[in-house]
Amino acid sequence: MARILTGIQSSGSSGEVHLGNILGAIKPGIALSKQQDHEAFFFIADLHSLTTVKDAAVRKKNTYAVAAAWLAFGFDTDKNVFYKQSDVPEVCELTWYLNCHTPFPMLANAHSFKDKSENLSDVNAGLFDYPVLMACDILLYDAEMVPVGKDQKQHLEMTRDIASSFNHLYGETFVIPEPLIDEKVMVIPGTDGRKMSKTYNNYLNIFLAEKKLRKAVMKIETDSTPLEEPKDPESCNVFALYKLIASNEQIAEMRQNYEGGNYGYGHAKQALFELLLDTFAEERKRYNEFMENPELIDQKLEEGARKASKIAKEVLGRVRKKLGYTTAL
Ligand code: ADP
Ligand code: TRP
Repeated sequence: MARILTGIQSSGSSGEVHLGNILGAIKPGIALSKQQDHEAFFFIADLHSLTTVKDAAVRKKNTYAVAAAWLAFGFDTDKNVFYKQSDVPEVCELTWYLNCHTPFPMLANAHSFKDKSENLSDVNAGLFDYPVLMACDILLYDAEMVPVGKDQKQHLEMTRDIASSFNHLYGETFVIPEPLIDEKVMVIPGTDGRKMSKTYNNYLNIFLAEKKLRKAVMKIETDSTPLEEPKDPESCNVFALYKLIASNEQIAEMRQNYEGGNYGYGHAKQALFELLLDTFAEERKRYNEFMENPELIDQKLEEGARKASKIAKEVLGRVRKKLGYTTAL
């Protein structure tokens, strides 16, 4: 069995999972988990969310939202392991150990830290240390493959570097994970054209109630080309999002609409909104069922935490031994 592992943060302002998470992580992750010789560890990175979310109620809501999204897209929690990062606190202990094996300049050069520290007012030490906690998420479970979006490539490189240098110093301890980055899944753009991210507040949450989802779609930034004039689909945020989920025929038709003129951005937004409702109708229904019955989610996460803890304890035992934190016996 090949072990694959990935996590999604429970950050965002009010229970948010966005299209970038779904197309970049959830859908490809679930497809991989369905392969016969794969065992998937998928978790909710609720400790990472503490770097940006300070409100406990918001985190809790987000945690359920992320869990419900995995479940709505059909993740099989019997065959695999589905858990909350904070339910296996061994990861914090390992983070300390690996903090002391991570060169300061490696973290100082992280793109995501540079990006986030420019965009956030609260630049805390957790944000700086984020990649080490992420490395520990992976190494604590002997994960072999880590499906992530392109934006996480550097974090995976850091994980491999930290693990290799530890292995070099103490002898074989950690499995060196391989990133699985699907080049076809590009970085999903947000409503302002930057990377869609909870951090930038430029995301589309496809599980929103219809009215709110429509409002979010209508807010996508566009230029001010008048309705009558032809428009360039390639430079338009609405088209970029439409293209991700539409069929080839729908894309060709939309391109014609743009280039033909007399087609406004409002029309394109309405078409995108309808396509989102249509494409994700089943998932939206299942998501709501889980959100209305959070005890079903708790039950699955508790079971997952039990499975995950067992492995975490074994791996951490291995590390403690290497570091001399065990008795002679
Ligand atoms: P955010 O940037 O919104 O905080 P997360 O860090 O929680 O998102 O991302 C969780 C997963 O979703 C990761 O695997 C990440 O690569 C993927 N992901 C997030 N945003 C995008 C995006 N815009 N395009 C593609 N994948 C994304
Ligand atoms: N840092 C990832 C992100 O922002 C989320 C994450 C946390 C993760 N721990 C992980 C992804 C371990 C893969 C493996 O997208």
